Amino acid sequence: MLKSNVYITRMIPQETIDALRQFHDVEVNPYDRALTRDELLQQVRGRDAVITLLTDKVDGEVLDAAGPQCKIFANYAVGFNNFDLKAATQRGVIMTNTPGVLDDATATHAWALLLATARRISESERYVRAGQWHGWAPMAFIGQDVDHKTLGIAGLGRIGSKFARKAAAFDMKVIYTNAVREPEFERQYGATFVDKATLLRESDFLSLHLPLLPDTHHYIGAKELASMKPTAVLINAARGPLIDEQALVAALRNKVIWGAGLDVFEEEPNIAAGLAELDNVVIVPHIASATIQTRLAMGKIATDNVISVLKGEPPHTCINPEVLK
Ligand code: GLV
Ligand code: GLV
Repeated sequence: MLKSNVYITRMIPQETIDALRQFHDVEVNPYDRALTRDELLQQVRGRDAVITLLTDKVDGEVLDAAGPQCKIFANYAVGFNNFDLKAATQRGVIMTNTPGVLDDATATHAWALLLATARRISESERYVRAGQWHGWAPMAFIGQDVDHKTLGIAGLGRIGSKFARKAAAFDMKVIYTNAVREPEFERQYGATFVDKATLLRESDFLSLHLPLLPDTHHYIGAKELASMKPTAVLINAARGPLIDEQALVAALRNKVIWGAGLDVFEEEPNIAAGLAELDNVVIVPHIASATIQTRLAMGKIATDNVISVLKGEPPHTCINPEVLK
């Protein structure tokens, strides 16, 4: 097999790069930062395969810059709203993602956010670190019970259903919305399918597990927040633009809802003005899949996809399968 020329837009786990280097020439962005648009356009030129991040926008311009020899863009992420699938299909370029291996890590992280928000972990830790703790106080950092409450889930896909399963540990009532009903899941986990209005109205905790699409943009805005319980907690470890972040800042400030736990933001790495000043929100920097084991597994899928495609075989996780026809 002839060696091909592969580019990776940012350092991923070394073991996975080493595995790829056994077969191909691999170049990796040497900087500890994302490439600028100009750098991306320049670096993809002449490559046979490119491994990208969710921060790299891959559209017709990037695909054309890569050139007609380029066979695959492999995203090191399960989400692929940074990819123009149509433009890739038109040019015969395969696109792949890393589904499956990060479902548990991401669902567990959404739980970490939920528990941290409910029990005011970040806020009270800041207090201890600042030397403000002067003894056990009966009314300090009073949070919300999680056990036996109603858990609302928007989107019962791979990650949403993993998230739902973990609710059994807290004896929660699970309600969900989804494009389709999942009767088997309902039977097994005692979950109830509801419409969006019911989900908003009845959830004590509402966690979003939807893909970012034109019709899920601002799935939660001022109107939706106003229909939630004043004691409700909103969790988002999916994609930032699912929530109108400015509306959320206003809702948190005015106690329209009780709290929020956010892993993702509308304009990463920037966050909406006012958000960081609020104590009733837990904010972390898009780290839901960031575990040693999960990132290795993601790297293995991305590099295996590249190896397969460069061998002339179909990839394991194609997201524009029309291109294979
Ligand atoms: C992370 O956000 C991913 O899509 O994998
Ligand atoms: C708290 O520490 C308690 O003992 O109730």
